[in-house]
Amino acid sequence: MTGEVDPSRRGFLKAVVGLSAVAAVGGLGKGVVQNLITPSVGLTSFPETLLYWNDPSLPSSAPVPLKASQFEAESPSVWIYYYPLSDEPNFIIRFKESVPPTKVTIDATGVSYPFTGGVGPGNSIVSYSAICQHLGCIPPVIHYYPPSQESTLPSNVVSVLKTYNQTKPTHGVVHCNCHGSTYDPFRGAGIITHPTQSPLPFVTLKYDPLTDNLYAKKLTGPVVFGHPSDLTGGNAISNLGKTTVTKLAAS
Ligand code: FES
Repeated sequence: MTGEVDPSRRGFLKAVVGLSAVAAVGGLGKGVVQNLITPSVGLTSFPETLLYWNDPSLPSSAPVPLKASQFEAESPSVWIYYYPLSDEPNFIIRFKESVPPTKVTIDATGVSYPFTGGVGPGNSIVSYSAICQHLGCIPPVIHYYPPSQESTLPSNVVSVLKTYNQTKPTHGVVHCNCHGSTYDPFRGAGIITHPTQSPLPFVTLKYDPLTDNLYAKKLTGPVVFGHPSDLTGGNAISNLGKTTVTKLAAS
């Protein structure tokens, strides 16, 4: 040991001293420093979380449990909820048909995993991470296009879908307008067009036929983009037992 300070460490020490000086200024910088150094609090396991919404058929604006049978199939609106972290948005999509289980492949690794299919009335409801697996764009830049809107997609995607539909007819796609990645939400959000190399992770939903309620239970597939794991890299949603599905305008 020479007692010399490595230049990179010296830079770090300077930064610490600088932050301390900010904190000392009458407490003014305290919140700033805390925000910089307070680690986010993730989770150690997936909670079971009931989905709420502002029922469009009710005059009240207070969220109530989302009733699966009332959720619109192939909605042109963008429906999302946060789970299990407050920076992890997820789509919820209902199809007009039963969504079968399938195998999904991660192009980046060649690894496949089982997608468990739809739940709820007619097994028609699915849910996926709404963070694009390419570089992390979020809704409404990435969103579901029902079949009635597929013609509004970029021409190169429309042309790919013409070929795709000859073997695996689409029931609408999730498309990201940042760089053009397209996913097949009827088949586990597998990749239709790149540059993404990974499908969207799916959320396992539980359906209670007695109450018509839906619960989010866990995420499966590739890790949510930008997170060390699906349970870390952000703060848990404020109420682990309840999350609200909200509608965004498509862009
Ligand atoms: S971030 Fe979605 S395609 Fe690049």
